[in-house]
Amino acid sequence: METAQLKFYYKNVTAEVLGKEHGITKEQFDELAKKTAPLIEQLDEQRKAGKARYRDLPYQTEMAKSVRNVADSVKGCENFVVLGIGGSALGNTALQTALNPYMYNLDEKQRKGSPWFFVLDNVDPQQLKSFLDWDQDKLDKTVFNVISKSGRTAETAAQFLTICSLLEQRIGKDRLKERIIATTDVKEGTLRKITEQFGFRNLPVPDGVGGRFSVLSAVGLLSAAVCGIDIESLLAGAAEMDKKVSLQDFYQNPAAVIAAINWHYYNRGKRISVMMPYSFALKDFADWYRQLWAESLGKTKDTTGREVFVGPTPVKALGVTDQHSQVQLYREGPNDKLFTFLSVQDFGTDVEIGKAPDIVPELDYLSGQKMSRLINSEKTATEYALLASKRPCLTVAFDKICPYTVGQFIYLFETATSLAGLLFNINAYDQPAVELGKDATLALMGSGDYAQLAEKIKPFEQMDSRFII
Ligand code: PA5
Repeated sequence: METAQLKFYYKNVTAEVLGKEHGITKEQFDELAKKTAPLIEQLDEQRKAGKARYRDLPYQTEMAKSVRNVADSVKGCENFVVLGIGGSALGNTALQTALNPYMYNLDEKQRKGSPWFFVLDNVDPQQLKSFLDWDQDKLDKTVFNVISKSGRTAETAAQFLTICSLLEQRIGKDRLKERIIATTDVKEGTLRKITEQFGFRNLPVPDGVGGRFSVLSAVGLLSAAVCGIDIESLLAGAAEMDKKVSLQDFYQNPAAVIAAINWHYYNRGKRISVMMPYSFALKDFADWYRQLWAESLGKTKDTTGREVFVGPTPVKALGVTDQHSQVQLYREGPNDKLFTFLSVQDFGTDVEIGKAPDIVPELDYLSGQKMSRLINSEKTATEYALLASKRPCLTVAFDKICPYTVGQFIYLFETATSLAGLLFNINAYDQPAVELGKDATLALMGSGDYAQLAEKIKPFEQMDSRFII
C-alpha cells in the first residue's frame, strides 16, 4: 500500500459546528446510516449481477497491458490528440491537468519526451481551425485517438471525418491506420465498422460501462499512459478505494457518507453541490464530477416510473480564484449549497514568496512565506467564513496529488454517485434527456431519419422578429 492517501472529512456539516438548523445531528446521521447501509449491500449485489461494471475496472490487468502496448506503439509521436466528448473526454483532460505539470504543452523539459497533448471536445470552428492550422504541417507526427462507444456521436464523428479527410490528402488512405487509434465498442457500432475496415489499432470501451464511469478503462488510460502517467498506480489507488467503499459499516465508508450527506441536504433544500478544489491541478476533476453528478442524478422518474424531477445541481469553483468571484454569493446568498473542498497537503514542490519592499510594511507578513501555506490558509479561511454563515462544508484531502490518490478520488466519487442514485431511487446509469437534443441536431443537419423532427424544429431555427430588441 502506498503512503499517500485520500481522506474524507465531514465534521463541518454536523450540528456540532453548524447548529441544528443547518447541521446534521447525531440522530439524523444514525437515520442516514440506517437508510444507506442496506444500499451499500444492494450496490454490491448489482455489481455481482454485472450492473455496475465500472467497479471492476481497477482489476482489468489485461486491459491495462493492452493500453500499455498501444501507448508504446506511438512512442516518438509529437502530438497526441483525443477526439471525443462528454465521458469520452472529460476524464482524459482531468487526468492530464492533475498529473502532468501546468506548462506540459509548452516546456519540453516538463514533457520529458512525451507528446504534446490536446483534447478536442467541441465543434467550434474557430477553435478547430486554429488547431488544424497549427497542426497541418505536423499531421504525420500526430496521433489521433478517436473515442466513441457508438461512433455516431455527431461531434466526435464530425471531428473524426475532418481529420480523416486531411490525413487522406496528406498521407493517403492506406496510411490512415498509422495515425489513428480508435477506442470503441468491442463488437458493434459505426466506429467499430470503420475500425475493422481501415485496420486501426483499437482498444475497447468496456461493455456495461457508461461514458462518465469509463475514465479508468482504455477511454481514459491510453492518453494518460502516452503522456507519461503511471496508469498501474492509478488503478492500484482505485482498487484500494474499492476496499473502503465496499465496507458495510456506513461510518467507515466514505462513498456512503458522501452520498448520504448530499441526499440529506438535497431534501432540506440545499440542492446545489459546489466542488471547489484548492489546487489548479484538480480543477478539471471538478468538471469531471459535474458531468458524473448531473447526468447520473438528474432524472424525471424514479425506478418505479413515478415523476420525481430530482437532481442536485453540481457547480464547479476553483480556490482561490473564485473567492474573488463567487464567495460573496456563497456566504450571503441563499443557504442552498453544500460545499466540497478538495485540498492538498503536500504539493510536492513549493515557491517562496518574494520580499516586500521597505515602503510597504503591510506586505511584510507575506515575505519569505511558502505559497503552499498561503493557498491552504485561504482554504481554511474560506471554509471558516462559510461556516460562520452556517454553510455546510466537506473536504476531500489529498496527502499529495499522484496517480494513486487520483485513482482513489475517481473511484470514491463514482461509487458515491451510484449510492446517491440508490438513495434518490433513480437509475444513475442512463441519460435519456440527452437524446432529444442529439436527435434534433441530426434533424437540423439534414439526417434523413429525422425529417419529421426537422419540421417540428423549424419555428426555432430563426429568431422571431417580434422579440428581437
Ligand atoms: O456519459 C456518457 O454516457 C456520455 O457523456 C457519453 O460519454 C458521450 O455522450 C459520448 O458518447 P460516445 O462515447 O458514444 O461518443
